[in-house]
Amino acid sequence: MKILVVGKGGREHALVRALAESPNQPQLYCYPGSDAIFSLAQPVPATSLDELIDWMTAEKIDLCVAGEESYLVKDEGLANLCEKAGIPCWGPHKQSAQLEASKEFSKAFLLRHHIPTAMATVVDTHEQAVAAIAGKYPTVLKFDGLAAGKGVAVCADAASADAFLQEVLVQKRFGPGRLLVEDCLIGPEVSIFAAIVDDEYLIFTPARDYKRALDADQGPNTGGMGAVASRQLIDADLLATIQQQIIEPTVRGLRQENLPYRGFLYFGLMITPDGPKVIEYNCRFGDPECQAVMPLVKGDLAQFCLDGARGQLRPELIDFSPGWSVAVILSSAGYPETSRNGDPISGLETVTHARVYHAGTKLDAQGTWTTHGGRVLAIVATADDRASAAALAHQEAAKVQFPGSQRRSDIGIMHF
Ligand code: AMP
Ligand code: GLY
Repeated sequence: MKILVVGKGGREHALVRALAESPNQPQLYCYPGSDAIFSLAQPVPATSLDELIDWMTAEKIDLCVAGEESYLVKDEGLANLCEKAGIPCWGPHKQSAQLEASKEFSKAFLLRHHIPTAMATVVDTHEQAVAAIAGKYPTVLKFDGLAAGKGVAVCADAASADAFLQEVLVQKRFGPGRLLVEDCLIGPEVSIFAAIVDDEYLIFTPARDYKRALDADQGPNTGGMGAVASRQLIDADLLATIQQQIIEPTVRGLRQENLPYRGFLYFGLMITPDGPKVIEYNCRFGDPECQAVMPLVKGDLAQFCLDGARGQLRPELIDFSPGWSVAVILSSAGYPETSRNGDPISGLETVTHARVYHAGTKLDAQGTWTTHGGRVLAIVATADDRASAAALAHQEAAKVQFPGSQRRSDIGIMHF
């Protein structure tokens, strides 16, 4: 079996490794990939989506796995192009990926299907935004399009709201686009991942990420400083409510609206005093949640994704370990405002009780791993209980060093 994985981050490193460990040992390829991914998957010589599709056709690739969201909505859309070329794709069509790419689209979808979510008003101008906020703080402001995780601001007061409105609606930092003014929800967050194949789905191990830069959830928002995953993260009653009120109506809604979906769908939920509510959909696995979840997945992920992409959901092919997994992120100097490249990384070979997934690294000419981006590595440990998994992940993460390295010390320990 020949599989190509699209993406280059820590999530894709974890996916590629999980696919590599599938029993029939598929031949793996990646686009664009990273130095770390290249040790498991061969790079593809393509400079555009069209070239990528031609290459996959020529090489008779059996399955394309979309790791990263941007390709799903680029040009005609990765899955749409794969379909035209007759290549099974694990990842949704462009029209369905609007659930992530447009917050206005996803909000309208949620409301149409009576799925619990925060109320929101869509605005075009600064004046309309101020009118919609109506002096009610905290308020949540969301840019409508893809913004690399920077398009949402939870504003405690008029000054911070005004600063964000200036950036988005006046300076147009993310380009043209509308804005959602949304009610601020309160409660712990949870990330639920469903593998969706047309009108069927399978829920993967629930996870939670740690978004703030500093311990005790202080400091600026980041792409994620760590994650914890376990079936025990939420109880059976809550999971049943989430299935009934959120996942099932979403899957039904996609079918009713002829939005083809074969791939992972990520439900970003907030567990409010009124029950679980959707704060976002993402049409892919989470990062860094994927790095925490993949070590708990047993069985044949490669065959599962291939059969799913061909239209058959086969839950019997995979299984989920009952324990806990904790992923600790090491980030580079200056993150999240900036990042520093080229710092040499030492101690990787001494990590013996955890998995290491690379997000922002590069091999230099001497063969030394160096930093190359904001989030550099994920160190992931599993154990029967949360405290042991967290202790092991931190113990192993402490063995890896580079100048300016940052790590939250409460990942997996601080519980929500
Ligand atoms: P998003 O990009 O939609 O995931 O939003 C980023 C983060 O902003 C979320 O993970 C939440 O922590 C926060 N957030 C988004 N929407 C809301 C909301 N309606 N109420 C409170 N916090 C929110
Ligand atoms: N962990 C958040 C995300 O992947 O969007």
